[in-house]
Amino acid sequence: MLVLAIETSCDDTGAAVILDGRKILSNVVSSQVTVHQRYGGVVPELASRKHIESVVPIVTEALETAKVTLKEIDGIAVTQGPGLVGSLLVGLSFAKSAAFASGLPFVGVNHIEAHLSAIFLEEKPPGFPFIGLVVSGGHTSLFRMEGFGKFARLGQTRDDAAGEAFDKVAKLLGLGYPGGPIIDELSKTGNPKAIRFPRAVLSKNSLDFSFSGVKTAVVNYIKTHPEPAEGYSKDFIKEIVSSFQEAVVEVLVKKTVQAAQRQGLKRIVLSGGVAANQRLRQRMKEESLDQKLKLYLPSPSFCTDNAAMVGVVGYEYLKRGIRSPLSLNAFSSMPLQ
Ligand code: KG4
Ligand code: ZN
Repeated sequence: MLVLAIETSCDDTGAAVILDGRKILSNVVSSQVTVHQRYGGVVPELASRKHIESVVPIVTEALETAKVTLKEIDGIAVTQGPGLVGSLLVGLSFAKSAAFASGLPFVGVNHIEAHLSAIFLEEKPPGFPFIGLVVSGGHTSLFRMEGFGKFARLGQTRDDAAGEAFDKVAKLLGLGYPGGPIIDELSKTGNPKAIRFPRAVLSKNSLDFSFSGVKTAVVNYIKTHPEPAEGYSKDFIKEIVSSFQEAVVEVLVKKTVQAAQRQGLKRIVLSGGVAANQRLRQRMKEESLDQKLKLYLPSPSFCTDNAAMVGVVGYEYLKRGIRSPLSLNAFSSMPLQ
């Protein structure tokens, strides 16, 4: 089965052609970073407009790269939410129009389920059930995933998402947007033990997260170290960001391992943009080895937003005869149950 998948939930326009939910024939992503960079964050109105400009060329490119025409496609999958409603509506409206015009079945996909399913694009995917950590710019949640469409949420952030905290700290230090990859790179040569930022563990049994405290601690640290006339030194910046990153990573690793232990599961899957973080990947590998857990890490390009992961989920639903009506709407919030 050939699925055309479309993803426009935030600031990346993505289109992919996926064979049998596993094999990527094409996976095109057009990033809007240059549009939003100067504002230090995604401007929703600009994002929607850019998706409108990009969606047709990106889908065309995806079909051309896969060397197929719409006639050879068996179904269309599109991100329905959660995300920016204006952005989502562009992909959704395009998918509905293409489905209506071609008579193809189409199905709406939850963006969080798509992130959790990105691992199935890899050579040796996990079996079910597994513990899935979704850690991105909009989400930080732990799930027990029993199968496609079968989830139990074990914990989630009570305030900022981890990626959001990375982006805010980078903005505060004038490092650029998006902050995650910049902090990741700078931290490689920084001392993660330089400053002891708080680790929010919440109550002992809670698998929830909180990242606003560590962000505020960085703000306060900067306030007590006013910027000298010549600007902060690179070493000072590295100390802050690597210590901040360490605090975030430590909590993510600890709670994910705890979730696996409490659920009696051996398999752990990471997903979402922050799962591309090198320190998180390294610490998670070390801890999994220590605790005899089996860790599954998607390639970094499948961690950040892309349409291939939407194709994985779309295939699973279309295969079972699940269809969405042409009246399908987009939703900014769409919790997985
Ligand atoms: O999954 P994603 O592409 O979009 C959302 O669904 O949010 O995640 C984007 C987020 C941004 O906050 C970005 O700063 C963060 O993921 N990110 C990273 C890294 N790469 C992307 N954070 C830390 N380290 C990275 N290498
Ligand atoms: Zn995402």
